[in-house]
Amino acid sequence: MRKALAAPLLFSGLLGLPLTLAAEEDSRVAVDLPAMMQTHMLGNMRDHLAAIQEIQERLAAGEYDAAGEIAETRLGMSSLARHGASHMAGFMPKGMQQAGTAMHQSASRFAVIAQEAAVTRDLPRALGALGQVTAQCVACHAAYRLK
Ligand code: HEC
Repeated sequence: MRKALAAPLLFSGLLGLPLTLAAEEDSRVAVDLPAMMQTHMLGNMRDHLAAIQEIQERLAAGEYDAAGEIAETRLGMSSLARHGASHMAGFMPKGMQQAGTAMHQSASRFAVIAQEAAVTRDLPRALGALGQVTAQCVACHAAYRLK
C-alpha cells in the first residue's frame, strides 16, 4: 500500500520540476561576446565568487583588514585593470556596464567599511555593506546572460 502511493508521488515530483522550469521564460538579455572574452569573463566570475567566500571567512575570523583587502583588489575599483574591464566593456550593453561599475564601486565601499570595522568591530555594518556587493551580482545575473 505504501509503495503504491509513493510511486505516483515520486513521479509527479520528478516530472513537476522540469515542467515548471520549461514554462518559465528566460527574459534575460543575451549578450554576444567573442569566445575568448566569454572564457575570460566566466573565469573572472568564478574568482568573484571565490573572493566573496574568502571575504566571509575573514569576517568570521574578525580579520576585517584582510576582508577589505580582498574586496578592493579582487572586486573593487582597483581590480578593473586585472579583469581587462576596459576591453570587455565595449561589448556589453550600457545597462550591463553600469551594473558592473556599480558592483566594483560597492566592493570599494565595502573595503572602506571593513577598514573602519577593524577599529569599531561593527560586524553587522560590514555584513550589510557586503550584502550591497552581492546585490549587484544578483541584479546583473537577473538581467543578462551570455549567448
Ligand atoms: C555586469 C554583470 C555581472 C555582474 C556585476 C556579476 N556577474 Fe556573474 N555573470 C554575469 C553573466 C552575464 C554570467 C553568465 C550567465 C549566463 O550566461 O547564464 C555570469 C556568470 C557567473 C558565474 C558562473 C561562472 C561560470 O563558470 O559559468 C558565477 C560563479 C558568477 N557569475 C559570480 C558572480 C559574483 C559572485 C558576482 C558579484 C561579486 C558577479 N558574478 C557579478 C554577469 C555579471
